[in-house]
Amino acid sequence: MDLIPLTDASVDTAADILAVGLLEGVPPVLPQALVDRMGPGLVDLLAAEKFEAKAEATLALPTLGKLGAPQLILVGLGAGEPDQIRGAAGVVGMAARKKGAQSVILDLSAASTAELASLAVVGFTAGNYQFDRHKSESKRKAACSTLTLAGGDAGSSQRAAIVADAQAVVRDLVNEPANVLYPETFAAFAVSLASDSMTVTVWDDQKILAEGMGGLHAVGRGSIHKPCFVHMHYRPAGGSEISVALVGKGVTYDSGGMSLKPSDSQQTMRCDMAGAATVVGAMQAIDRLGLPIEVHGIFGAAENMNGADSYKLGDVLTMYDGTTVEVHNTDAEGRLVLADCLVYASKLEVDHCLDLATLTGACVVALGSRYTGLFTESDDLAAELMASADAAGDGLWRLPLADHFREALKVEWADTNHMGGRWGGASIAAAFLSRFVDGPRWAHLDIAGPAFLDKPERYYGKGGTGAMLRTLVAWVENLEA
Ligand code: BES
Ligand code: MN
Ligand code: ZN
Repeated sequence: MDLIPLTDASVDTAADILAVGLLEGVPPVLPQALVDRMGPGLVDLLAAEKFEAKAEATLALPTLGKLGAPQLILVGLGAGEPDQIRGAAGVVGMAARKKGAQSVILDLSAASTAELASLAVVGFTAGNYQFDRHKSESKRKAACSTLTLAGGDAGSSQRAAIVADAQAVVRDLVNEPANVLYPETFAAFAVSLASDSMTVTVWDDQKILAEGMGGLHAVGRGSIHKPCFVHMHYRPAGGSEISVALVGKGVTYDSGGMSLKPSDSQQTMRCDMAGAATVVGAMQAIDRLGLPIEVHGIFGAAENMNGADSYKLGDVLTMYDGTTVEVHNTDAEGRLVLADCLVYASKLEVDHCLDLATLTGACVVALGSRYTGLFTESDDLAAELMASADAAGDGLWRLPLADHFREALKVEWADTNHMGGRWGGASIAAAFLSRFVDGPRWAHLDIAGPAFLDKPERYYGKGGTGAMLRTLVAWVENLEA
């Protein structure tokens, strides 16, 4: 999508849609130029429709040749809070997609919110998103190709476009069905992002086994699509004093394995690589933005299947750091994949490490579909991530990672169990992961709720959302280089 920041876009500028944001009011105040062209009937119409410009409310009208655009969308900005701006741009983006509009003028300048242009770009791009590449040509609606921002600031909107594009990449990866996106094709996509400043290394099944990543290897062994381990390494041109690892769970399909999930629960389990997809998207954005920090993007990709060679309950696995794990449920597979990746990140001696995973149903029960669970022993890191999430518009909520959760992992025939009782399941999973982190400041982000929507919410349709992508990028941007 081309972005045109324009300060003088007017009611006469040609486009498919002119969208104008209004601050909440009874009645909301209309720009004079709009009333002049559309006639005083526009004011009466708002009253008749009881349109009060509440956040994300829209009123779409044909302009009958009176404006440069055939369609006018009035959109509520509420009080003009940052997330309300994002939301207003988002619902306009969504409406534009439903109408197949290719050029949109977006004027949210009624609000004087800081970062207006960035918020508008990020929201609009998210709302305009559709995953329709597997539909017949005739059933697809065109995406917007030109967005003109009235009152836009060129510099910050360029940065926002990079982040918004990366979020769409995450959503594409998550939405792609598991017969198209499996470990090998997922790894190939990561490789396609290699650049002058980013190398991408892939280990195949043989190498994974030879290196001793017993968790990733076990989870992937039941499928004909063999597992891959992927290491993306971004090095800024000017070098960097500190380094970060972003680690993701890349289970391209989670059937549950021998502990088979019921059919309904399997329906959307192609989403189980969302953590890794978020890491890949963040690496793309970090590279394009040229951030001054060394960043490693690490993920294990595996398909958790029920097959003749599947790992089984009671098996004892030897992980990358030598820890032995007794398997009690093959559906608690994500933590086995992540554990090996966390050991790998620890061996790199990074300063900070974040992992992202659609890890537990328990986290969805606790927090629902708009909040990611945050687990860390570092109050500083928690505060940084909460601030970044707040600025980026991602829901984030801290849950406990206390010592007593580790007691649930005691087991008979190996060093540790990988799961405990039902209660506090998200914290028990985090406690298991913590065993494998040695050195860096670390936080675990359970995105099982917000990564994938079963029904549309706000300006997001069904499917992958790219949750936490913007937070990751903002957090890395805010680190002291
Ligand atoms: N991928 C699932 C978690 C999940 C659930 C993600 C719902 C997205 C939506 C994970 O691998 C899993 O199956 N976890 C089990 C763990 C249990 C067996 C200890 C769960 O949460 O039920
Ligand atoms: Mn599972
Ligand atoms: Zn899973």
